[in-house]
Amino acid sequence: MLSTKYDFDREISRQGTQATKWTHLHRGRDPRQWEHTDRFFGEDRILPMWVADMDFASPQPVVDALVARAAHGIYGYTTTTDTYYAAVVSWMDRRQGWQVEPEWICTTPGVVPALNMLVRTFVSPGDKVLVQRPVYYPFFGAIRNNGAQLVSNSLVYENGGYRMDFADLEEKTRDPQLKMIILCSPHNPVGRVWTPDELLRLGEICIKNQVLIVSDEIHGDLILKGHVFTPFAGLGQDFAQHCIVCTAPSKTFNLAGLHTSNIIIPNSQLRASYKKTLESNALMGVGPFGAVALEAAYNYGEEWFDQLIEYIQGNLDYMEGYVSRHIPQIRLVRPEGTYLVWLDCRGLGLDKWELKELMLEKAGVFLDEGFIFGPEGEGFERVNIACPRSILAEALERIRSAIDAL
Ligand SMILES: Cc1ncc(COP(=O)(O)O)c(C=O)c1O
Repeated sequence: MLSTKYDFDREISRQGTQATKWTHLHRGRDPRQWEHTDRFFGEDRILPMWVADMDFASPQPVVDALVARAAHGIYGYTTTTDTYYAAVVSWMDRRQGWQVEPEWICTTPGVVPALNMLVRTFVSPGDKVLVQRPVYYPFFGAIRNNGAQLVSNSLVYENGGYRMDFADLEEKTRDPQLKMIILCSPHNPVGRVWTPDELLRLGEICIKNQVLIVSDEIHGDLILKGHVFTPFAGLGQDFAQHCIVCTAPSKTFNLAGLHTSNIIIPNSQLRASYKKTLESNALMGVGPFGAVALEAAYNYGEEWFDQLIEYIQGNLDYMEGYVSRHIPQIRLVRPEGTYLVWLDCRGLGLDKWELKELMLEKAGVFLDEGFIFGPEGEGFERVNIACPRSILAEALERIRSAIDAL
């Protein structure tokens, strides 16, 4: 097959596509103060670099498969066939070295819905679920929406990097009310790709204390140079039997709007319980576009994906160089995976609202504020760098000028 060179530098307008990233803006201090806006377009546009989707077109084989499916004209109820499961199994084997059995896979319309249903299935109201803040904030909703209590085994930030606090984890998992941990692997927003040693240690502590491990591995393909991803269930039989792994092609191939994720559960009893919740919420099945896109992406998207990782790596190097040369007040926490960059802005000496105002109102860049990931994130900003380099460069220049004018 001829190889394709993808052009990630091309700016593709998302105007008129109802893209959440390009239509929603949060101002002020009230968490409900979201507004629909057209401020992301035209002169004086604000640059949206917040929610985790990419401003790149998906691989051409995915686009072609979707166009062909759309042209068929009938979009009725859709089932997953053997070819769907084979595509997932093959991808996990090829890219992550993890051997998945097709029957372990439970399709679900998104990882966040899955997390909600997992809490509902395995945690009684009043019991506790542990997360490692600062962390992807919908974890908090999945816990609280279902009447459980949130406990944080907060990550430790030292020498410009993050690590787990195992002593604190030991102590918190000893609480008999603690039933589940939601692990973010790789970690959003701090970008850690956990090592096998870290995962083993965490797994041993949780298994010893009968805490179910839910490993959200949605970013598991997005691994940067010099790092290797370890799927939690690949640590060994005992670990696989005590965990539930959340995966999806959505971050990898920019398909989040198609709501297709795969929750992989090697333990048959856990799987049966989860499936019962899916059934009782009538959430079985996939849509025709999600199924088609997943197969095309996992079977034919690898060439695009390898080029994507190179491009994101290039964006990260560019950003790191720029920040260290021109914005020394900000410290970039270099991610090992994901396309999200965590910036330590505490050197600016601003409180969280002043920082938000600086980025949004003065620089005209809409980012995810660090504090939404938990109080540990206060003074930080999360930047989505999955965009053409020209946009990233413009954003950095704007941030630099806004800071210079302080
Ligand atoms: C760690 C993590 N889990 C889940 C999601 C979203 O999953 P979904 O769109 O499948 O609900 C995201 C999106 O940013 C994420 O970062």
